[in-house]
Amino acid sequence: MPVQRNKTEDDITAEALQRFAQTPDPRLRQIMLGLVSHLHAFVKEVELTEAEWFRAIEVLTEAGRMCTDKRQEFILFSDTLGISMVVDLINHRKPDGATESTVFGPFHRLGAPELSAGGNIAHRDKTGTPALVSGRVLDLEGAPIQNALLDVWQTQSSGLYDSQDESLGGELHMRGRFHSDAEGRYLIRTVLPVNYPIPSDGPVGAMLRATGRHPWRPAHIHFVVSADGYEPVTTHIFDRRDEYLGSDAVFAVKDSLICDFGRHEGGSGDVARLGIEPPYYTAEFDFRLKPATEQRATVLDAQQRLAALGARTAE
Ligand code: BEZ
Ligand code: FE
Repeated sequence: MPVQRNKTEDDITAEALQRFAQTPDPRLRQIMLGLVSHLHAFVKEVELTEAEWFRAIEVLTEAGRMCTDKRQEFILFSDTLGISMVVDLINHRKPDGATESTVFGPFHRLGAPELSAGGNIAHRDKTGTPALVSGRVLDLEGAPIQNALLDVWQTQSSGLYDSQDESLGGELHMRGRFHSDAEGRYLIRTVLPVNYPIPSDGPVGAMLRATGRHPWRPAHIHFVVSADGYEPVTTHIFDRRDEYLGSDAVFAVKDSLICDFGRHEGGSGDVARLGIEPPYYTAEFDFRLKPATEQRATVLDAQQRLAALGARTAE
């Protein structure tokens, strides 16, 4: 058939699809065909102007320039567009009582210290209200999982992650790795989580402002909980009292992850033993893991792979 030179926009779409239809790997072929057909349909539907097309190129270029080992503007775009949560929901359909997952976010760091039960992740935070977070790691039948790893991270009471706080000079803070005991119990000393705005000094912030959206996330603590023979879960616990639960900038709130943080004016037991001065808060949350079926790579696996390649340092 002679090559058609007098092309319409639909001819270009058909021709591009035809080329990608030759992709040898079937999954990559499916992804490329879907991507090209949806992107072409989008451009035609909104009748993208050349100026808008070029603005999009500038925005992506700016996002790329902002990325470092401590700042991931593309994850932030994915999160604020709701894509991360759609990926999460597709990949973690959990009708079975297992703890629900939510976004990983861009602030996890490798190399958090191993802490024993009651270890304080907030040792440098002098302004937050002390908090004790405890609970159990259980299987779907409610039996304890011993020696589960809980990788925990949180902002300081200033609302900044350690990597955003220049006064720390790169030091790790508000992070720890805890293990569950024989009864599946864990105990974390920290400060009450606060709500905070996601970084808005880059193209994501510009998008939020231009579209009349706020950058706030409700107060939460991040966890990746894993144990041999179980599917790891990447999740948060949220403070039930937070004003942004209904409008999280990254759409990550799930009802089952909302938790009561109770205030106490006096204390004994763990509180006295750990030398915590009232007032303080406590929260209890049990994690339920489901047995591993297939070995699925997580974002954390990818991060560890990059670190092993020397692309990202554990610091
Ligand atoms: C976070 O909770 O750390 C986070 C998640 C998504 C975007 C920005 C921050
Ligand atoms: Fe966070």
